Amino acid sequence: MDDATKSYTAELRNVGVTYGGQTGREVLRSVSLGIKAKEIVCIVGHSGIGKSTLIRCMAGLQSPTTGEILVSGDVITEPPAALALVSQDYGRTLMPWLRITENIRLPLRGQRMPRAEQDARVAEALIAVGLVGVERSYPWQLSGGMQQRVAIARALAYRPQVLLMDEPFASVDAQTRAELEDLLLSLQRELGITVILVTHDVDEAVYLSDRVVVLGGWPAEVRDIISVQLGGNRDQIGTKSDPLFLESRARVISEIQMSKPAASALT
Ligand SMILES: Nc1ncnc2c1ncn2[C@@H]1O[C@H](COP(=O)(O)OP(=O)(O)O)[C@@H](O)[C@H]1O
Ligand SMILES: [Mg+2]
Repeated sequence: MDDATKSYTAELRNVGVTYGGQTGREVLRSVSLGIKAKEIVCIVGHSGIGKSTLIRCMAGLQSPTTGEILVSGDVITEPPAALALVSQDYGRTLMPWLRITENIRLPLRGQRMPRAEQDARVAEALIAVGLVGVERSYPWQLSGGMQQRVAIARALAYRPQVLLMDEPFASVDAQTRAELEDLLLSLQRELGITVILVTHDVDEAVYLSDRVVVLGGWPAEVRDIISVQLGGNRDQIGTKSDPLFLESRARVISEIQMSKPAASALT
């Protein structure tokens, strides 16, 4: 492992994905990206461009067709222990027959962790996401926004080094979304985790990110990486009217527009 690699918590090296074998459809081509410890990186791009494909590869759930992915310096061949994923269809990842506490405890069970420590972690995660009071409920008794909090709490209780999130706030109302964005920022700061988040919402990407990665083209490649110089303390009103925010936002939008696949490529 060389020094350049050591400084990355996660690294994509020329990652390519083709579905359906060699004669199939090439979705991603030669995506390279290094993510440093404690960074928040958002990946944006058109719907269907390959964002979920990329994050599934990073989570070790899917093997890239070409290239390799490293987490903490090691090439991954299976879901790395240091990593947690909050997936796009979070509702389906909660077990309907388990109460909220047991859903959050689930990833801790396989860790030979004393029950008392599991309880402490679950309780802490419930407080962190503002879910105290619904411990004994079942997932289907909660609103979409609350179910999403459960999925986030489960990932946090696990205390991953790297948190992967695929459109985590897409299915909640605007107010809840803003709350969950701020919750993510404060937890990230408190726990020092590295966050890689996929979203198609440009405002959300710029608001949350240290860097925004724009995927574009067909097959998709990294079109641009925009550093967002907004510092650590962000708030929904002040930050979103900051000229630096607006500048980064404009750049991301124009980059996405320029990289729009030709209509013929989509048929
Ligand atoms: N398992 C799969 N098999 C074949 N094609 C797939 C599979 N998963 C995704 N695709 C295709 O790959 C492209 C990218 O999908 P996806 O990664 O879900 O994009 P995004 O998350 O950006 O919307 C789409 O055209 C989709 O239809
Ligand atoms: Mg997706």
